Amino acid sequence: MKLKEILGIDIGGSGIKGAPISTKNGKLLDKRHRIPTPQPSTPENVANTINELVKLFRWKGAIGCGFPAVVQNGMVFSASNVDKTWINTDAGKLFSETTKLPVWVLNDADAAGIAEAKLGAGAGFKGAMMVIAIGTGIGSAMFINGKLYPNTELGHMNMKEDNIDWETYTSDSTRKREMLDMEGWGKRLNEYLNYIEFLFSPELIIIGGGASKKLDKFKPYINLQARVLPAHFLNDAGIIGAAMAARINLKEK
Ligand code: BGC
Repeated sequence: MKLKEILGIDIGGSGIKGAPISTKNGKLLDKRHRIPTPQPSTPENVANTINELVKLFRWKGAIGCGFPAVVQNGMVFSASNVDKTWINTDAGKLFSETTKLPVWVLNDADAAGIAEAKLGAGAGFKGAMMVIAIGTGIGSAMFINGKLYPNTELGHMNMKEDNIDWETYTSDSTRKREMLDMEGWGKRLNEYLNYIEFLFSPELIIIGGGASKKLDKFKPYINLQARVLPAHFLNDAGIIGAAMAARINLKEK
């Protein structure tokens, strides 16, 4: 199977984005396309949207797909920003059957993290590094010496006193819903990142997701020991990393 070029797809709570990717250098080989996440975001509806992207790019090769949940070997085990019927669905099998193409599925933040750790802002970084992807939800990817510990769900830790998770308090969708300005949002993100630092002491934190392109605006409110950088691939890190992960995992098949 040819794996030099893979269709990278990033399934999010609000949009499904895709582009053909060169797995050698992470370059987008065509313009990225975004389709709003279907509602309800059931397995069948999402699989049909993936197929739309396949047709749009006239794709005939392998596919790598980031999905906003705990994913082990293509199986989905959680669902916070997608329809609950996803739980216990074999997403890899479903997407392969719908598209008739080989598909690898992994957690979306892990995908973004892989792109950043291999080719982006964390390339060559030796040590403890985290990618925090802030969008509709909050995702996390943890690396040590460039190696991923998959499916960490650090957006779902509960806040200390309140009975809500950090994602509910500080995601980009919360910023929009509560109409927070950059100072208000930046201060919340600072609380969250300080809590992460208190628990895990990463040396480098890379901000991914939609928030990556706004880092300049909220960075004045972030006060951490760790170095904080925006994702080099900004919001494209997810599609790039999904393609890279597919290259590694589909090689054997
Ligand atoms: C999900 C994570 C995902 C994150 C970002 C969270 O709600 O539980 O798996 O990585 O959103 O999409």
